[in-house]
Amino acid sequence: MAAGEGSLHDLLGAPFFVGLVDRFYDAVEGDPVLLPLYPDGADTAAARERLAMFLAQYWGGPHEYMERRGHPMLRARHNQWEIGPLQRDRWLLHMLTALEASLADAPLDDATREDVLGQMATYMVNAAEHLRNAG
Ligand code: HEM
Repeated sequence: MAAGEGSLHDLLGAPFFVGLVDRFYDAVEGDPVLLPLYPDGADTAAARERLAMFLAQYWGGPHEYMERRGHPMLRARHNQWEIGPLQRDRWLLHMLTALEASLADAPLDDATREDVLGQMATYMVNAAEHLRNAG
């Protein structure tokens, strides 16, 4: 199946986003630059759930994030933290590493895997820069 035919959520399935976010937050928990920003410290269970819901919704899944958290307004929600190039790049490093590992495990043919990696990585790079509010 080519990645263009349905949503990426249809292609990858809901558990993909949970696994991706788990890998990402496992890395954040070991990151001395990022972890101090997180309101609940190393207790990232609720933060994991929010990001997984958001990403699943963004890529065409159910609107659970919207129902539970309202409009994402991600720039406004991130204004309370100083996000400069260092924070942006650490966030991206962990997300792109998690993305590659998660896609390596996904049952996709190589062309589809590359296509999905390209789409999702491009989105993450742009979104992280969009949320930079310092530096
Ligand atoms: C650029 C570097 C970034 C930093 C330093 C950062 C940091 C944070 C922090 C500290 C939280 C609070 C954790 C929580 O309690 O949920 C948070 C929440 C969140 N972040 Fe980020 N973030 C970054 C980029 C992104 C990007 C690129 C996205 C989307 C692709 C994103 C999506 C979210 C979402 C959906 C939440 C939960 C918002 C809510 O419902 O309250 N973040 N982020």
